[in-house]
Amino acid sequence: MKRKIVPAQFLSGEIQIPGDKSISHRGLFLGGIARGKTHLENFLPSGDTFATESCLRSLGVDIQAPTPMSRVILGNGWDGLKEPADVLDAKNSGTTLRFLLGLLAGQSFFAVLTGDESLRRRPMKRVVDPLLKMGASISGRQNGNLAPLCIYGRKLNRINYLIPVASAQVKTALILAALQTEGQTVLEELMQTRDHTEKLVKCMGGEIEIVNGKISITRSSLKGIDFHIPGDFSSAAFLIAAGLCTPNSKIRIKRVGLNPTRTAFLNVLQRMGGEIGVVPFKDLNLETLGEPEGDLIITSSSLKATEILPEEVPNLIDELPVFAVAASQAEGVSKVTHAEELRVKETDRIRDLCLELRKMGVKIRELTDGFIIEGPCQLKGAEVSSHGDHRLAMALTTAGLFADGETTLDGAEAADISFPGFWNLLDQLLGKSNTK
Ligand code: S3P
Repeated sequence: MKRKIVPAQFLSGEIQIPGDKSISHRGLFLGGIARGKTHLENFLPSGDTFATESCLRSLGVDIQAPTPMSRVILGNGWDGLKEPADVLDAKNSGTTLRFLLGLLAGQSFFAVLTGDESLRRRPMKRVVDPLLKMGASISGRQNGNLAPLCIYGRKLNRINYLIPVASAQVKTALILAALQTEGQTVLEELMQTRDHTEKLVKCMGGEIEIVNGKISITRSSLKGIDFHIPGDFSSAAFLIAAGLCTPNSKIRIKRVGLNPTRTAFLNVLQRMGGEIGVVPFKDLNLETLGEPEGDLIITSSSLKATEILPEEVPNLIDELPVFAVAASQAEGVSKVTHAEELRVKETDRIRDLCLELRKMGVKIRELTDGFIIEGPCQLKGAEVSSHGDHRLAMALTTAGLFADGETTLDGAEAADISFPGFWNLLDQLLGKSNTK
């Protein structure tokens, strides 16, 4: 599907964005293995989370949707899962496939996992290898690196493991395996990644301790809980950049998740001179869940270039495409390195981002592990493609708002993978029907 984006005069108004994708996936998975009822409010109804729901239903989990943005999961504990009658299809969702590997490795039945063309190209060895060390039986294409993957569930052994890639998906898959394994598993990360799983497992009564960055997990059964999912910071990121870079704009984005393992992009934009006010949201329930939320107030600002530090990369990995767009408007040379992970996301996000932003006049140089941008660039409208990647679709749309002339985006529907209603919310902030 094609969308036209015309230059914006300004953005203004107050909006609430959909729930966090990472927490929505975790709510479904952990609710599915807990005993009792888990109630998720502000659940994200998107392509990726629908894939998780459908796989869990095939495993016998009862998930109800009282409203489009709430879910009730009736879990029957670890023994409540059953052998699926057919192949489990994670579609475009790496999170779904990797979490399923950890969950099913320790069960007692057979399953085959696959995904769409993009997901079948993404590396799974990072999860499969440590699970094999735990005694799992998993095989697949390219020596177990690529889906379709077959799993014969069996009893696992505990491990001590230093996770060699900074990946919360790998960490979560191993936590799901460790929660079913006798003895204490100890995981260590090279760099801190998003910690939603640790927080949620703890709230649901799981035995998980984090001391000096080491995560110790003991076999536990979880209990169902009720919680409100904060707005997705990674979705807010596109609108934050749009608000900062479109002159005369002022917007408020309400109840955004502000977990510090997710908000490095906020710190980076502030260091670039971006005017972003944060109004913390206080609620008793949130303190137990430990997921901070707040409103963000964004005012258009002149930005100056910056370099992304290696330790910041895991905590803004999904925001790097839109960082490139913001950096194209900043004075000076901006640089991203140590971000080779971008090459194995839904697309090769370094190659495709550089290709598409160049069409719009961005002076961007591709590096093996990142990119360099010389700003500020006067962007021009162009015919661009999302390559089927949701974050590229929304980053290119953001760039179109402050380009000269009209931009046509091919593959615009990809936005629904993580941000349903993106176009409507944008139109709301633009005060008109700007994108068609
Ligand atoms: C996610 C972790 C990140 C991120 C993805 C969601 C998660 O992936 O890019 O969008 O929910 O755990 P990696 O763990 O592969 O870095």
